[in-house]
Amino acid sequence: MRWRGVIEGYREFLPVTESTPVVTLNEGNTPLIQLHRFVEGLGVDVELYAKYEGVNPTGSFKDRGMTLAVSKALEVGSKAVICASTGNTSASAAAYAGRANLRAMVVIPEGKIAAGKFVQALIHEATVVQVKGNFDDALSIVKEVAECYPVTLVNSLNPFRIEGQKTVAFEVCDQIGGAAPVYHVLPVGNAGNITATWKGYVEYAEAGRVPRTPVMMGFQAEGAAPIVRGEVVENPETIATAIRVGNPASWSEAVRAAEDSGGFIDMVSDEEIIEAYRLIAGREGIFCEPASAAGLAGIIKYAAKGYFRGGDVIVCTLTGHGLKDPGLPQAVLPEPRTVLPDVDAVAELLQL
Ligand code: F0G
Repeated sequence: MRWRGVIEGYREFLPVTESTPVVTLNEGNTPLIQLHRFVEGLGVDVELYAKYEGVNPTGSFKDRGMTLAVSKALEVGSKAVICASTGNTSASAAAYAGRANLRAMVVIPEGKIAAGKFVQALIHEATVVQVKGNFDDALSIVKEVAECYPVTLVNSLNPFRIEGQKTVAFEVCDQIGGAAPVYHVLPVGNAGNITATWKGYVEYAEAGRVPRTPVMMGFQAEGAAPIVRGEVVENPETIATAIRVGNPASWSEAVRAAEDSGGFIDMVSDEEIIEAYRLIAGREGIFCEPASAAGLAGIIKYAAKGYFRGGDVIVCTLTGHGLKDPGLPQAVLPEPRTVLPDVDAVAELLQL
């Protein structure tokens, strides 16, 4: 059957009725890709899959939650949505609001948004406000604006965002074939996605679709790891700007998700993130954004500690597309050389 987005795909698990207007870009149904060459380097023969959320319509997993949040906003007669963002939420909100004929307002930290995400908000005609502050500043502003003015907040504090995002767990189980993985690994920023993914697994298990739930492993960037450190980080810093968050909105929910699953939230360095980002692109042909590679870096780190056993089924969410952040590869890789347009010169450079 033709895929019609996560609301139609998983309607029975979502808070929608026949009268809910469905605003969709046919998000979801993303590929679960087995990684072979990446696993060769781990030293343990696990069965590792990437859930490649970068191929969602706006290039990140945010579309799963946005279809529901915008549909529900429309259902109650809202005329405008607002969010703070490190870039992907704003790109998604702008696209879905535009499709629903709602006004989108996005508040972002000036100069800290990857180029691809910034232009998405512009081209989808959101009203973009840049603040001289970080994501956490932007989030507290939009929370207050949404309380004082008739605009719907579509950050993950909006419960419909979490509801939509939980569908990723359903898809993983369906794609594996009636089973959950042993481990589900993902990056943690504002902490909505680990909360949502865990909720999805719990609901699928309760519905009898899978016999058990996975262990959740979340990874923050070292310079933006409030949950791991147990305190707010006033000035979070990481090359993975998507998860540059110092005071996550779903902090306690994320901690509970990790604990209830038998898992944990830990951190990885920017160097480890970049190494994983290059490996997955070079060895597997999958271009994800640096924040997405935090989960992969966590897998490398825990494989080295002997945490996994051969045959363990591990799923890692690759949350966003690498093209979101097009400047980064050039910043971390050598510049290609230039020669005159001459066969011999080119062949020499190619060492043929
Ligand atoms: N990966 C990417 C690519 C993201 O954009 C985000 C969050 C995360 C991981 C972390 O997910 O916040 O649910 O823990 N981006 C938000 C945004 C903060 O504004 O786009 P989380």
